[in-house]
Amino acid sequence: MKDNILFAKNFFKNPSRNASLVPSSNTLSKKLINGIDFDNINYIMELGPGTGVITQEIIKNMKTDSKLILVELENSYVDMLFNRYSSYSNIFVEKNTAENMFDILSKYEFPKLDIIISSLPILPEKNRTKLVNNILKADSQWGSVYRTITYMPFIFKKVYKNMGLELKERVISNFPPVWIRGKN
Ligand SMILES: C[S@@+](CC[C@H](N)C(=O)[O-])C[C@H]1O[C@@H](n2cnc3c(N)ncnc32)[C@H](O)[C@@H]1O
Repeated sequence: MKDNILFAKNFFKNPSRNASLVPSSNTLSKKLINGIDFDNINYIMELGPGTGVITQEIIKNMKTDSKLILVELENSYVDMLFNRYSSYSNIFVEKNTAENMFDILSKYEFPKLDIIISSLPILPEKNRTKLVNNILKADSQWGSVYRTITYMPFIFKKVYKNMGLELKERVISNFPPVWIRGKN
């Protein structure tokens, strides 16, 4: 409940950055990582974890020796996630903007990324261009799996048309309804 209140507060503080009034549902979190072979995943990055609903699902599924970086811009979420995960030696909370993902990888000495899981809103154009280039770079270098969500499928398709993402699933039961897209 506390998490939901914080989430709603952040929506009113910065609607375009928070993008939704409530966190993702458990059903959506499960579907977002459905079909991913976590036995072969060692290096994971989550972009825009918020209050950590999807994070919890990732942690439930990842191997105990896999490493996870959570990249979040909003201070209140960063503090919350840091309090929750600072005792884990394989989970890192990074206050940063998502498009800096390659600098962040270097900081935590990740040799590659096996998977990038995003629930970011559609970013402003400058940030978005860098993010897209970096996700495509991760794909061409390491074949990284990418999963992302959107509440605005038509705008999303238009702005990310060069990414070659496929529709994985629609989760109509989530509020707001969500389209899951991804590659690999
Ligand atoms: C739609 S919410 C998703 C939150 C959570 N993952 C969930 O599914 O409930 C979007 C999240 O992305 C974060 N965010 C927005 N822009 C960001 C950026 N440029 N870099 C990192 N995080 C960002 C927001 O602060 C928020 O936590």
